[in-house]
Amino acid sequence: MAWNIALLICFFVAMVRSNPTDVDCSLHQDFNNVKDCCVYPKFRFDEFIKPCGKYMPAGAPRISPCLYECIFNATNTFVDGVIDPDNARMMLEKLFGNNQDFLEAYHNGIMSCSDTVQEMMNSRRTRFQNKTEQCSPFAVFYGVCAQKYVFNHCPSSSWSGNESCEMVRLQNMNCPRTISSRGSSHRLL
Ligand SMILES: *[C@@H]1O[C@H](CO)[C@@H](O)[C@H](O)[C@H]1NC(C)=O
Ligand SMILES: *[C@@H]1O[C@H](CO)[C@@H](O)[C@H](O)[C@H]1NC(C)=O
Ligand SMILES: *[C@@H]1O[C@H](CO)[C@@H](O)[C@H](O)[C@H]1NC(C)=O
Repeated sequence: MAWNIALLICFFVAMVRSNPTDVDCSLHQDFNNVKDCCVYPKFRFDEFIKPCGKYMPAGAPRISPCLYECIFNATNTFVDGVIDPDNARMMLEKLFGNNQDFLEAYHNGIMSCSDTVQEMMNSRRTRFQNKTEQCSPFAVFYGVCAQKYVFNHCPSSSWSGNESCEMVRLQNMNCPRTISSRGSSHRLL
């Protein structure tokens, strides 16, 4: 499974069910109908082969707590537990090259994700807190949260604005979030 699809599944798992506005928050979208709504760029993980290659086993999905933590470490994106905006931008430039639209979207996403990531950290299941896990999911949660932000703020040239896609975006923007890490996110992390 492609990494970006994997991140998307993680956030669809964390979706919503109640009803504040005219958006139907109880409506469940079929993931297959919305996975291509935003045409994400490929992550150039190869840029990080030197420091992080050991977390990129051939054939395995490239979404793991250790790989993300390693990339965040290698770029000093966390400084004292806080995201450093300039270093985060340099990390994204390595990952996306010169793709300015997506670079901005991901950067805004990362910069607005700290509350959400904190909630995800607080609500993760004990399975995640297993002492034998060598890496924290902190960085990969930033990936999941930023991915969702970019879905909601997808550059218009990469957005397929049909009814299913718009509905999910409206739900994301208007329905209360229930952050949890149930279901498929476990298999991916
Ligand atoms: C909407 O667009 C997505 C992405 O292109 C596609 O997968 C989906 O089938 C479309 N849905 C409808 C109802 O046209
Ligand atoms: C990232 O840095 C932290 C703090 O120095 C360290 O504990 C952790 O093991 C590092 N993670 C990876 C994957 O290198
Ligand atoms: C923690 O990891 C160990 C070794 O992989 C495993 O045997 C154990 O069942 C795990 N505990 C939980 C709560 O998942």
